[in-house]
Parts: sequence; structure tokens; C-alpha cells
Amino acid sequence: MANTQAAEKENMDDSGMVAMDELVALCKRRGFIFPASEIYGGINGFWDFGPLGVQLKNNLRDRWWRDMVVCPPIGPDGEPLQIVGVDTAIIQNPKVWEASGHVAGFNDPMVDCKETKLRYRQDHLIAIIDERNDQIFAFYAEALEEKSALKKLKKMAGTDDLSKLKSVPFTKIAPADYAKVVGPDTEKKGTLTEPKQFNLMFKTYVGATATEDDKAYLRPETAQGIFLNYKNVVDNMRVRVPFGIAQVGKAFRNEVTPRNFIYRSREFEQMEMEWFCHPDEAKKWLDFWKEQRFNWWKSVGVMSGNLIFRQHDQDELSHYAKEGYGTVDIEYKFPFTAPGYGELEGIAHRCDFDLTAHQTHSKTKLEYFDDSVQPPRRFMPHVIEPASGLTRGVLVLLAEAYTADPSRPSKMYMKFKPSMAPVKAAVLPLVNKDGLPEIAQKLYYEMRTQFVTEYDTKGNIGKRYARHDEIGTPFCVTVDTDTPNDHAATIRFRDTMAQERVALDKISAFVQKALKE
Ligand code: GAP
Repeated sequence: MANTQAAEKENMDDSGMVAMDELVALCKRRGFIFPASEIYGGINGFWDFGPLGVQLKNNLRDRWWRDMVVCPPIGPDGEPLQIVGVDTAIIQNPKVWEASGHVAGFNDPMVDCKETKLRYRQDHLIAIIDERNDQIFAFYAEALEEKSALKKLKKMAGTDDLSKLKSVPFTKIAPADYAKVVGPDTEKKGTLTEPKQFNLMFKTYVGATATEDDKAYLRPETAQGIFLNYKNVVDNMRVRVPFGIAQVGKAFRNEVTPRNFIYRSREFEQMEMEWFCHPDEAKKWLDFWKEQRFNWWKSVGVMSGNLIFRQHDQDELSHYAKEGYGTVDIEYKFPFTAPGYGELEGIAHRCDFDLTAHQTHSKTKLEYFDDSVQPPRRFMPHVIEPASGLTRGVLVLLAEAYTADPSRPSKMYMKFKPSMAPVKAAVLPLVNKDGLPEIAQKLYYEMRTQFVTEYDTKGNIGKRYARHDEIGTPFCVTVDTDTPNDHAATIRFRDTMAQERVALDKISAFVQKALKE
């Protein structure tokens, strides 16, 4: 804890991570992310992307699409993999979600507080057992970092020495003991109800009559739209197993407790790819995709020390992953999980669960006929699924980029990899006279056709650099009083603040080169 004070000063915690409230404030101040419906008081679990945020999100999405669909990885046999894209409807026939298991199985256990009317996810709570006073406290694990929670614990346990208390997952507390439980936001015992299963799908009605028969669901994952089009793709495109279908798009989950900014929201975007292969090759492809996806996150600028693999335990596997080789998550050290990690992407072996379920429910044959072998064979492909959160990925890029630097006016800068940065370059005329704006504009007109460039004349040059540090612009190009004579401008590098004089006609190529890295 020795450097806590220094760390606080720099808005970073001991592990070098930015404090979440600081990141949320920056995102609002600089136009990355705003609370949805803010002028009406907001709406829990929904966020809007501002001008900088949408640019950052699009960069991450476009990179994923490029590396999955436009230019997929080279496979183990040295040939490029085959992956095609789709963009399917958010609302599908409700029978889809019966077949997929989501109507019966996409549930979270929740407990309600009768006193405060607040609702909690049972599996996210931990129980602190105070045996001496025969009471149990329920808390969100992260809330225990907060002073108010510790104060409540000390007061109710009647001691400052919390080492006597024992903690276990709240799911281990038997309903018979709920009478002893003090809920997270009350000091009364016995106010929490027994856990009830809560289905996470948003319901809506299709058509004007809005009867129960017209009920439909907003998709809770983009994956099912892919399985629904598997036959169309096999029949109409020139693909052969093994191949993949990729999709990026919105998914909706009525999360019991949306938390931690855009980490767990009720509307979010996913980037999912379903890889269809022969059952005997599933293990090989699971290992292949694990490695590919881990390296991909590094390629967009995430430090490998902040990423880990975590194999799912048998009791947390999704309904579709039970029979196969399970699911491995790529986890990131988020500011609110550090020094621990939280899920960023799941790589699941879904077996033939979905295709078989849709074949049974829709009565449409979905088996694959392979005549490339002798004798030809028919089989139901198995599926390996790398499924990542685009929205969550944006949070990773933001957290990863935030870099404290007390030596500069902004006290920090966003160290995005140049290819991910929302704005790649800014053209700044030093003063608004002496022909400088004309030269700067000409340069700007040339650069903006190639990459996102801002033309910025507002405030003194120091203020302009500070703003571009805060939004993570890697290159600031200053047109100064020497420019009319030497036909060159100064490029200031965001990370080092070093400056280099570059000829005007070489500046675009200079930036382009950096964007390729
Ligand atoms: N098709 C498989 C599937 O949907 P998942 O693990 O439930 O698997 C995949 O979701 C990814 O989607 C997660 O790793 C996470 O990045 C993102 N995700 C899931 N729920 C989310 C939420 N409520 N808010 C933001 N991102 C979420």
C-alpha cells in the first residue's frame, strides 16, 4: 500500500490501473460515452456512444471484421481459412429461442430485498459470516472495497477486527439461514427473499394486436442468427466444412444488476464467429482459436500481462457447452477486478447442440454431406465459437490506454495503438494569421481523405496538445511561422512528446506508415 497516495494523485491505483470513476468522467468530458437518456435522469444499463466513442468502437469492429472475414487467419495446413459474414435480424421467430434453450435455460438467480426493493444476482454476492453474533452479511465482492461497506461490517459485528469473519459465495447459504442474512443495502436481518430464476431475454410484441401469441424476443446473442443461416450459406455459397460464419451486432440482456460502466449493460454489441468442423477435429480447432484470439487482443494494443485464459468450471458451463471440451475465457484485468480478471471473450465448444436443436424443432435437415472423402459421409458439424464483446472490448481499449503522466498539463494521455485511436492526426496552425491557416487547411484537406484528421484552431497550442493527449491522438502536426519558408511542419508524438520536422508532402505517408504497425 506504500504508494497509494502517489497513485491516487495520478488517478491510478496500486496496480497501475486507472480508477473507474476517473475513466467514466474522462469518457463523458471528451465525448467517448454518455449515460443514455441523460436529460431524463438516465436509464440503468444503457449507454450512448459519443463522437469519439463510436469512432473507437468502429475501429475495433472493423479490425475484427478484417481479421475474421476479409483476411481470415492462415490455417494449420498453410491455407487461408474460409469465413463469411452475415447480418441477421435482431427479432427472429420465437421458436428459435425455445430450440436454442434460451427460453428454458437463460436465467440468472436473483434475490430481492423486501425492505429496500432492490434486486441482486445471487451468484454475484458473497456472504460474510459473523459466527459470534450469528449473523451473515451479503455484499457484492467489489462493494467491499468501499469504505461504507467496511464501516457497516465493523459496526454490526461490533469489532474493528474483521479477520474473525469468514467469507463464502452467497450461493452456499441455505435458504433456512436467510433469516440471519443482512442484505447489501439494509441493516435489518431476514429481508432477502429466496432465489428465483429470472429470464434475461427482453420480450416484445410483433404486430398490432399484441396478444401472447405475438410475443417475440430481442436476441440475447448474435450466434443464433448464424445457426439459422447455416443451411443458406452451405447451399448458396462456395464453402466447405471446416468454415466459419461471422457476425457483429447488438444483443440484449435484461441483466439483473448492470454494473461497472459498459462492462455489463443491457444493450451491447457482440463479435461472434461460429466455426463449423468435423467432430473429430473440434479439439484441434478449439486450441487453434484459443491462440488466435489471445494474440488478436494483443494485436489491438492490449498488454499480454493484462490478459489470461480461464477454463470454465463444470458447474458454470452454458447449456450448450456441457458435452464438449467446455469453454475457455480470455479475461482482462479490468480496473474493478484488478488484481483479478473479468471475462472479455469466451471460446466455447458448442458441439452440435444448436444445429441438432434447430433440426429437431424446425424439422429441416441440417446435416452436412461431405463428398470430398471416400466413401462420402454425412455428419452434423461441431462448432467452436469465439464470442467477444465489442462494447466490452471498447472498455478494455479505454482502460488499457489511460496513462498517468503528471509532467504534462493534462496529467494523463490515452495511449491507444495508432490504428485504434479515434483521431489519428490533428493539424494545428500555430497562429491564425501570416498565411498559416491556408497552409494548414491544405494539408488537412489532403490528410482527411486518408485517415481521421482534425483541424483544430481553438485555444493556445498547449491547450490543443492537452486535448489531443486526452483523446489519444497519436500525431499533432503544427504548422508554424517557419513553415512558409521550409515547407515543413512539426510532428509531435503523443507518447514521448518528442517533436520532428517533416516535409509537408511527406506527412501523410509518415502517418500512414505508423497506422500499419
Ligand atoms: N454466443 C455466446 C455468448 O453470447 P457470452 O459469454 O454470454 O457468450 C459473449 O457472451 C461476450 O459478450 C462476453 O464475453 C462479453 O464480452 C459480452 N457480453 C455478454 N454479456 C454482456 C453484457 N451484459 N454487457 C456487455 N457485454 C456482454
